[in-house]
Amino acid sequence: MNSSPIADLDRLLSEGMVEIANAGDSAAVEHLRVALLGRQGTVTAQLKQIGVQPAELRREFGAAVNRIRDELSQALTEKAAAIAEQERRAAVDAQRIDVTLPGRKRHFGSLHPVTRTLRRIEQIFTRAGFDVAYGPEIEDDFHNFEALNIPKNHPARAMHDTFYVSAETVLRTHTSPVQIRYLESNAPPVAVIAPGRVYRCDSDVTHTPMFHQVEGLAVDSDISFADLKGVLVFFLEEFFERELPVRFRPSFFPFTEPSAEVDMGCVFCEGAGCRICGHNGWIEVLGCGMVHTEVFRQVGIDNELFTGYAFGLGIERLAMLRYEVDDLRLFFENEVSFLSQFA
Ligand code: PHE
Repeated sequence: MNSSPIADLDRLLSEGMVEIANAGDSAAVEHLRVALLGRQGTVTAQLKQIGVQPAELRREFGAAVNRIRDELSQALTEKAAAIAEQERRAAVDAQRIDVTLPGRKRHFGSLHPVTRTLRRIEQIFTRAGFDVAYGPEIEDDFHNFEALNIPKNHPARAMHDTFYVSAETVLRTHTSPVQIRYLESNAPPVAVIAPGRVYRCDSDVTHTPMFHQVEGLAVDSDISFADLKGVLVFFLEEFFERELPVRFRPSFFPFTEPSAEVDMGCVFCEGAGCRICGHNGWIEVLGCGMVHTEVFRQVGIDNELFTGYAFGLGIERLAMLRYEVDDLRLFFENEVSFLSQFA
């Protein structure tokens, strides 16, 4: 093993070279420069040793120290330059814009299917000459029930699973109170639809506690059931953009007489019978009838001079049929994947 001062210098050189080669960034290079060539550096320490060498060795030792100082210094300078170049490239790369990448997609919102359906219904009826009216969602007992010939303790109140706000105030259970409000402030002849939210304390696959209805009302001196039939068949054909079998079934509502429920051929199975229509080929879409004389009496309209019809249809029900959606709850969960299909 050679441990002469010259051999020690060679080891200093080779170890220094390895450390320089391994330096990963400019801070590490700077750190090495100080450790080797700084005032307290290992090479600097050797320079100070030249004078204390025996005379016969001094020259050779001095030359060797100066050589390794120069070699290490040069290696440090080259390494620093290489790292600076590398860091510059990394910085440039980090800022580079790849113009061949696909652009960021912009997502456009869309109208909710219930809103779309509502607008479609409004459009069809306004084209047929109907006005559009709105009423409050928090309604008093008189407008929601009493004036519609549903007195307190009348069994028909059981048809409505009412949310009571107070003894005399409810969340309206249907849009029919707007009939009353409209007739209180408009003298016949009138033709109006009243869309809006209604509330019932009911929740399952086909019922949600809040849903939408459109009320229809026409009052004039010579309105007949034939007019009612005509306007509803016109509406359904416009709405579904095809001719559909439609049937009127006798029914009961306290505020219409006679009353009917309207079914149309099931759009899912074309009348063959399926789960949606309960395997009978028909789907109920609305309730209707001729305005009851008691309703006219409540709003001060002369039964001898005027007749009228009224109908109420469920917007979600129509949206389900038009878009062939088989679960009512989808309209209220507001999953973007569902809603974006209506864009
Ligand atoms: N208001 C009734 C309901 O919600 C529907 C209806 C309206 C029936 C107008 C007849 C006339 O069930």
